[in-house]
Amino acid sequence: MANYKNHILVCAGTGCRASRGEEIVQNLNRAIDFNGLADELQVVRTGCFGFCEKGPVVKIVPDNTFYVEVTPEFGALG
Ligand code: FES
Repeated sequence: MANYKNHILVCAGTGCRASRGEEIVQNLNRAIDFNGLADELQVVRTGCFGFCEKGPVVKIVPDNTFYVEVTPEFGALG
């Protein structure tokens, strides 16, 4: 079982999903696999963070770095 060092929380609430949130999840997962980080980093879809007007929202834990208005290019390769 993987012991993840970090989790990337991607809001999967209605507003963020409508703003291409699922593409962010897919691009992050591709980048994690491409870079061989699947045992260290996990992408997790979450419920609404309550900042829908600033979505898509992504939070890194344990750093607690909070990103707003994220685009799918956030996690894209190259
Ligand atoms: S739907 Fe993402 S913050 Fe509300």
